[in-house]
Formats: sequence, C-alpha cells, structure tokens
Amino acid sequence: MDMMTRIAELLAETLEQVFPQTEGLPGAEELRGLLAVPPDPALGDYAFPCFRLAKPLRKDPVRIASELCDGWKHADVASAEPVKGYMNFFLQRENFARETLQAVLSQGLKYGSGDEGTGKTICLDYSSINIAKRFHIGHLSTTMIGNSLKRIYEFLGYHTVGINHLGDWGTQFGKMLCAYQKWGDRESVEKGGVDELTRLYVKFHEEAEKDPSLEDEGRKWFKRIEDGDPEALDTFNWFKELTLKDTAKVYDLLGVRFDSYAGESFYNDKMDRVVNELKEKQLLTISEGASVVDLEDEKMPPCLILKKDGATLYATRDLAAAIYRQETYHFDRCLYVVAYQQDLHFRQVFSVLRKMGYDWADRCVHVAFGMISFEGETLSTRKGNVVILEDLLKQAVEKARAIIEEKSPNLENKDEVAKQVGIGAVVYTDLSNNRIKDIDFRWDRALNFDGESGPYIQYTHARCCSVLRKAGATDAHALDAGALTDDEAQSLLRLISRFPDTIREAANKYEPSMITRAITDIAQAYNKFYYEHRILDDDPAVSAARVSLTDATRMVLKQGMYLIGMEAPERM
Ligand code: ARG
Repeated sequence: MDMMTRIAELLAETLEQVFPQTEGLPGAEELRGLLAVPPDPALGDYAFPCFRLAKPLRKDPVRIASELCDGWKHADVASAEPVKGYMNFFLQRENFARETLQAVLSQGLKYGSGDEGTGKTICLDYSSINIAKRFHIGHLSTTMIGNSLKRIYEFLGYHTVGINHLGDWGTQFGKMLCAYQKWGDRESVEKGGVDELTRLYVKFHEEAEKDPSLEDEGRKWFKRIEDGDPEALDTFNWFKELTLKDTAKVYDLLGVRFDSYAGESFYNDKMDRVVNELKEKQLLTISEGASVVDLEDEKMPPCLILKKDGATLYATRDLAAAIYRQETYHFDRCLYVVAYQQDLHFRQVFSVLRKMGYDWADRCVHVAFGMISFEGETLSTRKGNVVILEDLLKQAVEKARAIIEEKSPNLENKDEVAKQVGIGAVVYTDLSNNRIKDIDFRWDRALNFDGESGPYIQYTHARCCSVLRKAGATDAHALDAGALTDDEAQSLLRLISRFPDTIREAANKYEPSMITRAITDIAQAYNKFYYEHRILDDDPAVSAARVSLTDATRMVLKQGMYLIGMEAPERM
C-alpha cells in the first residue's frame, strides 16, 4: 500500500484513541489529503498539520501535535515527532524497504493486480475505424487508449469485451459502389486497395459537381446494399475485407486485438425494435418530417432517429448497439473511446437510453480524448495531409533501427528490437499526456533515448536486465533491507509502493497516462539510484539487496509497459 495512505489510516486510528468520541474529526481519506511531504527532509518524510484539528478539538495545534505523537504507537512503520503544530513522520526505512520488496518479489509481474473486477464485464468500444478509409494517425489515440484500458481492467480481474464498432454503413458507400461501376475495375482495386477506393470516392465528388444526377445514382446504389441486392452487397463486403486486411497489419504491429467487429451494419436488423420501443414509450416526435427524441429538458438539440425518408442514423445505430451490448454481455460499464468532438452525440444517446428507462445508461461512459497533430501541423482528410499509421510505424521502426545501429552495433536481434522500440516510442507519445489534451507528435521527442520517452523506459528496463544477468542468482529471501535505507533507494521504493494504487486510479479515471507517468518516474528514480550506488558491491549482502531492488524495478517497468501497450526488450 502507498505509505501516505497507510499513515493516514493509522493516524485516523490514533485520533480516535487519543480523542475518543469527538465529533467533526477528519477520516482517513481526508487525512491522506492533508499529509504533505516537507520541503526539508530533516523535517521528516511526511508531515501532518494539526491546525485542521484545532476547531473540533478546541485546542492549540501545538498541544494537539504533542498529544498525538505521544499516542502514536506505530514506530515500526514510522516515528512521529511534534514540531510547531506539525506531526513529522520519519519512515522506518528498513521495514518499509523489506515490505515493499517482498510484496513485489512474491507477486512478480502480478504485483498490483487484483480481483476487484471478478464477475464484472467491461465493454470497450475503441479504434472503430471506417471502411474504405486508410487507417491514419487520427485513429491512433482511440486504438491505444482502448487497448491500454482493456489491459488495465483485465489486470484488475474484469472480464473485458473489446469491440471495433466498424463504420461500415452510410450513403457514402453507395457513392463508392457507383464510382466503382463507372470508373473502377476489380484488378486495380485489388492492387491499389483502400487507396484506390479513396481515389474512386474523390472522383465521384468531382464528377457529381458537374453532373448532380450522380448523387441520385449513388443513393440508388446505397438502397441496393440496404435491400440486400447480392451484387451490391458482395462488392461492398469485398471493400470491407480489403479495409480490414489493410488495418490488420497495423493492429498486428501495435499488438492490438478485438473480441468483436460488430460495426454499424451489424445493427441493420436490430433497429426496428429500437424505433418501436421509442414509439411505445412515446418518446418520438416528428420534426420537419424526421423522427427525433426531444431533449430540450436537458438543454440539448433533439436526437435524430429517422430521416424524412425513414433511413436510420448514426445515433439510431448506437442506441441499438448499447442495448445489444447490455443484453449480450450484461456489462458493468460500457466505455466509448472516441474523440471529444463526439461529446454531444454520446450525451444525446445516453440521455435517450435513460429516457427509455434503462438505468444502466449511467454506466455508459464517453472516454474522450484530444486531437493529434504531427510536427506542429494539424491534419485533415479534407486538406489531404493525413499521416497514414502504417507509414508512421514503419518510419518509427527505421529511425529506431538507425539509432540502435549507432548505439549498440553488436546487438543480436536488431530488427526485432528496432520494431519494439520504434513502436514503443509512438505508443508512449500517444499515452504520455492527460488524454483530453491535444498531442503534437514530434520525432525528436518520441525517439529521445534520454528524455521522457518510450525508448528511455525500455532502455532502463534493459539496464535492469543487464544488471541481473551480471549478478546471476541472488537469494531474495535473505534480503538485508538495511542496505536500502539510502535516499535514492527509498525514493524508488516509494514510487514502486504506489504503483498498485496508480493502476486503480488509472482505471477509475480511464487515464492510461497515469501509468505512463508512474513508470517514467520509476525509470528516472532507478537511474538515479544506479548512478549513486554500486549495485554489485563488495559486500554480498548489500549487492543482494540492490539486485533485488533492481529485479523489482524490472518487473514493475515491464508490467507497466505491458499495461500501456509497449513491449519490453531485454537487451538494447
Ligand atoms: N467510426 C467512428 C469514427 O471514426 C467512431 C465510432 C465510435 N463508436 C461508436 N459506437 N459510435 O468517428
């Protein structure tokens, strides 16, 4: 357990013992918030200001501090000294080191895992790419945040369902079919793949400007898909296959997997029911010919359910999807990892579900994230400056390869390591900030082996592996924790002891970046420890202790990287 939490709990207990039956005393959680780390280490590892207790106890803080310190019975955890109205805590460093290390070494890579999710299911809707479009950098965040959250929840014992809610429905596909019939052929689509489909789609729009009747033709083709016309459907399914084949390469590189590819078209036969239910519950109103659910009471524009011509919409499909997911998976929570631009859409959908009487709508969450730009440039499909994800990843691997060639010319499996490092650099960048913040992807930052970067963490992990190789086997049980009371070891241990709490916080806030932060801090603390101390010391007991700490660091870094979706090479 995190030491501050532990001390806060013991302090709550002490408060009750020293001042029984007093009203208005803060509980452990509030005490945790009041504990601080003094700027001067001579004043202890943590300090508690007793001023907050002056009112409920009607006493002078200086007296409170001294009475509390007298009543403090946990010297095995920390000693407490009263100083000017503060309780200053000095950790029992040796015990703390022993406990923390034992916790990690006994659980190994499972350190920080849990079973609080047992029996609960989390649905995650992420990546959710669009058919016949190249997989570009704009879909990186949804893919990596979703992937990371899935791993985090699994680590906490949840059952997870990863869903790629494919964008495989809409009038644009009618246009594409129309263009294919007019200007395309099987061979060039087979060869050009999604790029050729894009070319056809662009051509359609150019031609339609000159000849507006094309729009009608496009609509007719879409109707043919909707009616299940075999020719139209076969061609469309072929487009879909092409896209999925294209994206499978990227998912492979990123190590991302899904349990379901049920996309928008999957709900074709599941929407009548939604519409009927909305009617029965008297939620549908007609507005300019369209059927909508009025949301004025929640100060939102109406949610569009059916167009004038009876066609369903994105929201209709999301309503059907949410109901389907609840009925199929009985989810405890359903997360939608989608850009913040769709904020209104999800608020509308969730609110319609609530109006339909589904109380589980409150357990649907839009996990929003910011935009990504590339080397300072905003990207837009319309302006034609998109960055194709596959190209980006390949470039990252190449650049990593060049750096490795220079730094470690004798490394054996350079290609494999370059792949892990290059992709790790991209993943780290994507998950290094609060998810709602916009990201600017820059090569020099992503691949800076000395800065806060993926390669830096991987390098530190490889350093730990190398130390362990040199050390050979050590006996972790005969651990002399007294050798780990120095400031550097203690800072590292403190960060390690906080890791389990961080994982939970990341899960609760849907914020993988908290894990990125934690392993970055741990890597930095380890390197500081490594530079200040000789890990392999003349004294075998000291060596054994430092090697054990190295091993614990290695495991936490490795697992942390796994949780955000990075690989951990053992040599770099
Ligand atoms: N395909 C959509 C897009 O690229 C995202 C779909 C998100 N999921 C959902 N259930 N609406 O913008």
